[in-house]
Parts: sequence; C-alpha cells; structure tokens
Amino acid sequence: MATVQLNNVSKSYGKSRTVHDINLTIEDKEFMVMVGPSGCGKSTTLRMIAGLEDITTGQLVIDGRDVTDVSPQKRDIAMVFQSYALYPHMTAYRNMAFGLMKTTRLTKPEINTRIHEAAEILHITDLLDRRPKELSGGERQRVAIGRALVRKPKVFLFDEPLSNLDAKLRNRMRAELKRLHAELGLTVIYVTHDQIEAMTLGTRVAMMSKGRLQQLGAPMELYMKPANTFVATFIGSPEMGLIPCKSSAGKIGHNAFIQEIAIGNDLPNDIIIGMRPEEMTITQHGMARGRVERTELIGAEALVEVALGEHHVVIKSPVMGAPEIGDDVGVDFDLARMRVFDAASGHAIWPQA
Ligand SMILES: Nc1ncnc2c1ncn2[C@@H]1O[C@H](COP(=O)(O)OP(=O)(O)O)[C@@H](O)[C@H]1O
Ligand SMILES: [Mg+2]
Repeated sequence: MATVQLNNVSKSYGKSRTVHDINLTIEDKEFMVMVGPSGCGKSTTLRMIAGLEDITTGQLVIDGRDVTDVSPQKRDIAMVFQSYALYPHMTAYRNMAFGLMKTTRLTKPEINTRIHEAAEILHITDLLDRRPKELSGGERQRVAIGRALVRKPKVFLFDEPLSNLDAKLRNRMRAELKRLHAELGLTVIYVTHDQIEAMTLGTRVAMMSKGRLQQLGAPMELYMKPANTFVATFIGSPEMGLIPCKSSAGKIGHNAFIQEIAIGNDLPNDIIIGMRPEEMTITQHGMARGRVERTELIGAEALVEVALGEHHVVIKSPVMGAPEIGDDVGVDFDLARMRVFDAASGHAIWPQA
C-alpha cells in the first residue's frame, strides 16, 4: 500500500511563494499526473514529496505516516529525472546496483536478481555492460527507470522523464510506462508540461498554474468540464474556442449570433462560452455567421479558423467540402456540450457540477 497525502503544502523561497496550499491525495496504485506550464511549481512540489526541498508550511503523509521532516532516504520513494542523472563512468549494471549497495543490506546475489528482473521488464538485459555514452537517449532513460525499479520503492516520482526524447521514442516510452504501471501495480506521481502526456497517462490529472492547483480529476473530466478558462485552453489541441458574450434573462447573445441561445439559468452579464473544435459544425445557415480566416489540412480532417465578430474559433471539419479562406460561413454549436464561464473570474458556471 502506498498513499501520498499533501495537506496544505506551500513553498516559499525567501519572500516569494511559489507553491500555494496544495491539497492532494494520491491513492495506492494510482498514476497521478501533475501538469502545467513551465514555472508553475510542478518540480518544486515533486521535490518536496521526495524530500529534496523543505516544505515551508503544510504536511506530507505517506501511508498514514507524517514524513514532513523525514530525510529523503527514509521516505521509500524513487525519483526519475528528465536528465537521467546516470553516473557516466559506470556501466548500466553498476548504475542500477550502486544505490542498492549504498542504502540497503541486500546481498550481491539478491541485487543481481533484482537487476536482472528489472532489465527484463525494461528490455535492457543486453545493455547492462554498457556505459551511458554507449547508450541512446531512450536506453539511458530505461536504465534510469531501472535504477528506480530495483529499489522497489512505495512511490515513483517522475519529473518530465520523456522531454529529452524525440517524438517517436516519446510515444513508445509513454506506452511502456503505462504498461509498467499496469503490470507492476506502481504508485506514480508524474510531472509534465505536455497535456497529451497528461491525458494519455494519468488515471487522474492535477492541473497547476502559478503554484496553485486549478483542477483535479480524470483526464476526460478536465477535457469535458474544465473548472476555468485556464484549464479549458490548456487541455486539448487545437484549443477550445472561447467567445465572450452578453447574457440577459437567461439568454446568450453575441454580435455574430443570428439567434439568441436560451440556457435558462441565472447568469452574470458578461460570460464566455467555450466550444471545442469538434463541437462546432460549419453549415450553410448556422446559429452564428463568420468569415474563414485560415484553413489547415491535417490528414483526414481540416481545421478551419472562423472569425465570429472579433473572436476566432477553430472548427474541425471534413476535408470534403471544407470552406476556403474568405468564405462567409454559418457555424452551429452542439449546445449540449457548450460550457459557460464567468468572464470576470474565468470560473465555469455551466454546466453545473
Ligand atoms: N531554488 C530556488 N530559488 C528560488 N526560486 C526558485 C527555486 N527553484 C524554483 N524556483 C522558482 O519557483 C517557480 C517554480 O519552479 P518549478 O517548480 O521548477 O516549475 P516547473 O517545474 O513547473 O517548471 C519558478 O518561478 C522558479 O523560478
Ligand atoms: Mg520542472
């Protein structure tokens, strides 16, 4: 069993606070992804969990035990970094054995068994005699993961482990991490700035911005019901179209709209509606009208950017019959999927939770 609980965890460097009151529980065998733009405090949070940074205020509990002030070695956690951090003069085997020899009382044969087990899982058995410079980026990352696996820690922490790999290898390692998690029943906290990694790997995703937790939920929950406009535009590509509108008497109007949309709810006057590219259709008449500003063929589909008044939305459209730049088109919205945000705060107000 391994659960990790952050209770009101904050971090300050001098007078500036970089992580604000994070409350988060990672369940046993969960793959928790913390995602957010560069500088939002992901690594700092992970390093506090690992014990590499002091927790300024708040509490960290692992398996019911308060480890806020416990040294990193005694937290039973292993961390894998973007930079691999392998010892260059040691073979892959030695890299994996080194920590075990230093920090455990395992015998040589026991260590040998663990390394061979991990190597088999990671398909690096043939590479154990090589030094890091004789390995490709992907192979080095496998060794770095192997070094964490052999320790059999309660919790695995990953800080952007795939960022240094090319796109193809990144996809393959992503699938492999998913398999490792499922097969070995690992508890994982995984940090990335890449929303696709977050969506594909996470059993749950914790979205951060400016040192604060913005939303916590299953990937599709963040996609379908983002808590605010920040999450709405960070998750999903091309990004969700946001259209500032006025509302009165339960109806939504906009200068590009032909018809007002009734949603029968008490709304503030200034709202923003959010529609994803696949939730809008280009039609002849449409609920709104606009001008095509840009089109892009992406294989089976076209992405069509339409200006609705001064605001642009991107619409996924079949390639056949896709409009051309300058065309005046109608746009229909899938109203069942429409989201409404308060323009002042950015918070979601519709659909209600
Ligand atoms: N040792 C440090 N001293 C001062 N500020 C730091 C230190 N480490 C990180 N920061 C600041 O904390 C913020 C969050 O950094 P970080 O956790 O690395 O973000 P992320 O991993 O999400 O990119 C950044 O603004 C960064 O400059
Ligand atoms: Mg970082």
